[in-house]
Amino acid sequence: MKTHASGQFSGKIAVVTGAAGTIGLAVAEHLASLGADIALFDLQQDKLEEAATKVRQYGTIVRPYVCDVTDAKRVNSTTEKVVSDFGKIDFLFNNAGFQGAFAPVQDYPEEDFNRVIQINVCGAFHVLQAVARQMVEQKSGAIVNTASMAGVQGPPNMAAYGASKFAIVGLTQTASKDLAPHNIRVNAISPAFMGPGPMWDMQVEKQAKANTQYFSTDPETVAKQMIGSVPMRRYGNISEIPGVVSFLLSDAASYMTGVNLPIAGGIL
Ligand SMILES: NC(=O)c1ccc[n+]([C@@H]2O[C@H](COP(=O)([O-])OP(=O)(O)OC[C@H]3O[C@@H](n4cnc5c(N)ncnc54)[C@H](O)[C@@H]3O)[C@@H](O)[C@H]2O)c1
Repeated sequence: MKTHASGQFSGKIAVVTGAAGTIGLAVAEHLASLGADIALFDLQQDKLEEAATKVRQYGTIVRPYVCDVTDAKRVNSTTEKVVSDFGKIDFLFNNAGFQGAFAPVQDYPEEDFNRVIQINVCGAFHVLQAVARQMVEQKSGAIVNTASMAGVQGPPNMAAYGASKFAIVGLTQTASKDLAPHNIRVNAISPAFMGPGPMWDMQVEKQAKANTQYFSTDPETVAKQMIGSVPMRRYGNISEIPGVVSFLLSDAASYMTGVNLPIAGGIL
């Protein structure tokens, strides 16, 4: 068993949303490895339990909470439960997200647009607001929102996702100003192409199927086109994300707020 001993985040309580997913789980494990106790939020009980088992390897207190971030009432009651279970919240990794359909804007399905905005924007707002209210009472806290390079440059065929991630960058900037007087910092990370794995494969396949001038219709060629657009000429590994999040949450970033850090191999 890996043990956290007395890590830099010992005694800290972190909420991680989208915690059963690839990035959420990797970050939850990393924060636990640094000594933090973790509240995991995601949609499905079984996936959450699996994630909790993995995060518990590090020896800290880990509790799973089934919570649909699009449901503001549920987010508020779950956040209250976290505070009653753990006593406080020091960190939030506000990360649950959904990519939606890939199609040119004129064909983009309205249903997908609404769903992506509900999860990525409204959901992130609900969690940020609920946790920020607790942090305001505590007069301290640090928040990292997961944006994307799709929130810096609008990608083709991803109208909903691009709009949602631009919104996250805006929410981060505004929240950083509103919460600065309360000793709460709010930053964002913007990963670009992360792989290998299902997210990478799905993205490549969906861009190929979208059949536009920007990408080939052959997934293997799309993969090469995407990597060719990255100055470092490779996709990022999920393991390259957690250290950036823990840096932004830590006192090493104590004079940083409102920032959106690209994790993108040189794409700016
Ligand atoms: N993987 C990438 O290449 C990449 C790149 C840039 C940004 N991102 C962003 O990173 C974040 C995590 O993505 P990932 O790659 O780990 O994807 P993922 O699909 O593995 O994980 C997303 C998690 O969010 C959860 N989720 C979705 N809707 C939810 C809801 N309504 N309530 C609660 N939980 C919900 C899912 O159940 C899933 O566990 C997302 O915000 C995504 O947009 C990912």
